[in-house]
Amino acid sequence: MGEGKRLLRALAGEVQRVPPVWLMRQAGRYLPEYRATRARAGDFLSLCYTPDLAAEVTMQPVRRFGLDGAILFADILLVAQALGARLWFAEGEGPRLSPVATAADIARLRPAADIHDTLAPVYATVGRVARDLPPGVALIGFAGAPWTVATYMIAGRGTPGQGPAHALKRAEPALLDRLIERLAEATVEYLAAQAGAGAEVVMLFDSWAGSLAGADFDRYAVAPVRAIVAALKARFPGLPVIAFPRGAGPRHAGFSRTTGADCISLDQGVDPLWAAAHVQTDGCVQGNLDPALLVAGGAPLELATRAILAAFAGGPHVFNLGHGLTPEARPEHVAELVALVRGG
Ligand code: CP3
Repeated sequence: MGEGKRLLRALAGEVQRVPPVWLMRQAGRYLPEYRATRARAGDFLSLCYTPDLAAEVTMQPVRRFGLDGAILFADILLVAQALGARLWFAEGEGPRLSPVATAADIARLRPAADIHDTLAPVYATVGRVARDLPPGVALIGFAGAPWTVATYMIAGRGTPGQGPAHALKRAEPALLDRLIERLAEATVEYLAAQAGAGAEVVMLFDSWAGSLAGADFDRYAVAPVRAIVAALKARFPGLPVIAFPRGAGPRHAGFSRTTGADCISLDQGVDPLWAAAHVQTDGCVQGNLDPALLVAGGAPLELATRAILAAFAGGPHVFNLGHGLTPEARPEHVAELVALVRGG
């Protein structure tokens, strides 16, 4: 069997009898130790910007469950803040930003090279986790993909159907292009700094890619990701990139070829047998258990887990969820899941 970290081997295309496993949103409110550390930090953004505490919550699920990956604790909207948007989290309501939706708003954004003043504590978190990581565990950095971050910046909040971003796309496509371009530049800067600080893999979260149809998908979900991957690989040739075009459906096929990503993360709407035949043929896939199954646990969790393992057994696979763990997930069901993946 190969040498080195199991997650990195899967991303390089190695087929493993037991796939590596980590979980989106593995740090979070479903864990009592997370709630305790978050209470010490006071609020979510202070937790993100306090390297000792952010490193602690990054490590909590790795310690508790023995996962193969540690994902940096931060948020995709920190880049918007570093570019100059005001950002806050209204308790129980999700993120709020000062909207960036006009030519003047976009012109006021800081240059990509200036984001590091704000984001330096995130790089310090990466450095701390890299230093303290158990052997065999890979450190995952991340950012939001430009389209998804733009949907929050344009609306100033999360919106059903990403209506305001689609409205701007129709009314002033050149403005949206400019915002996406600024975000792509900043994302390269941000992820390169994470890699420089010790991230061994990076993941691009495009949570709202599925709301883009036809040519819009190519223009806003494929092209910016391709540009980011190319720029990152020019600076860090060996750095694996995971892309997560959530909701892309049949457009998952070919996504690694068109973007240059090493691995495609699949949401729970994708049939694993279809993905084995149409996506895994191009390289590693990650996913795709429905996170809702971690609430009740039991036979449905076991059946779905076994079906995913069986479907992806013939190619490179990273076991994960189709979206993030929710606050209602039960830690004991997560432990059961990890045991199942490992052959329990
Ligand atoms: O996966 C991890 O464990 C790493 C940390 C991480 C967080 N957010 C922490 C977080 C990651 C990778 C993200 C990504 C993220 N953030 C996405 C993309 C993935 C997805 O879920 O689609 C998006 C869209 C965001 C924006 C965001 N941040 C929203 C919409 C919310 C509110 C929803 C909620 O669950 O409250 C957040 C807050 C947030 N980000 C929390 C965590 C742990 C909850 C904050 C808290 O402690 O109250």
